[in-house]
Amino acid sequence: MRKLLLLCVTGIVIAASAVSLAATRVPSSTALWQKIQALQKANTLMLESKAYQPGSRSVDAYTIDLANQAGNAAIRKTGSIEKVRRYPNGALVVKENFSEQRKLTGVTAMLKLFGYDRADRDWVMAAYSPAGKVVAYGRVPSCIACHAMVARQDFVFAPPPEQLLSISIWKAFFRNQHISPAYVRLLRSHPQAVVK
Ligand code: HEC
Repeated sequence: MRKLLLLCVTGIVIAASAVSLAATRVPSSTALWQKIQALQKANTLMLESKAYQPGSRSVDAYTIDLANQAGNAAIRKTGSIEKVRRYPNGALVVKENFSEQRKLTGVTAMLKLFGYDRADRDWVMAAYSPAGKVVAYGRVPSCIACHAMVARQDFVFAPPPEQLLSISIWKAFFRNQHISPAYVRLLRSHPQAVVK
């Protein structure tokens, strides 16, 4: 009898851990790129963002933020990016970076995957070349360190000019990159938007 009970309990434990493992199955970088491409094709902007809004550096002089349904639903529900405290499992946000000439220079993405990285809000961080070659993937410390500045917003920044970072922060992460003059002007005209 006791043996049977033990077997039962073990069975339940195995079943439960299989379920939680399935819930946190991490997509390959290629599978995530495919999801990103589908979003690019649908061209659904992240709420509050605009196509070719100003970015901070010459590699992202302009940016386009995209979001899938789960991501935008969370923003719609609370009314603003600054009010979202938790994004749902499966939320995907993407930032396309463009040069001054509006040429795509790279794509970054954050995919919410419950159980993936609890300490850092369960985001799979990813960066790709314009053609989809993976540059960084997973628990990327630099992405996490900067996005944690808006931990209250579950790591998602509101686009410029709503939230801006100081030049010294950008320089701390991207030492050799040039800050876009338009971003410097935004910092001057929107000093209250600087995230501290
Ligand atoms: C120095 C700070 C910093 C670093 C490092 C950084 N980001 Fe961001 N990221 C931002 C800011 C600020 C925004 C909002 C401004 C914008 O959209 O241009 C942003 C926007 C984004 C967005 C659009 C969603 C949002 O939060 O607005 C994604 C996706 C993203 N970043 C992913 C990444 C990934 C992946 C990495 C690492 C490869 C990374 N970021 C590194 C500061 C940073």
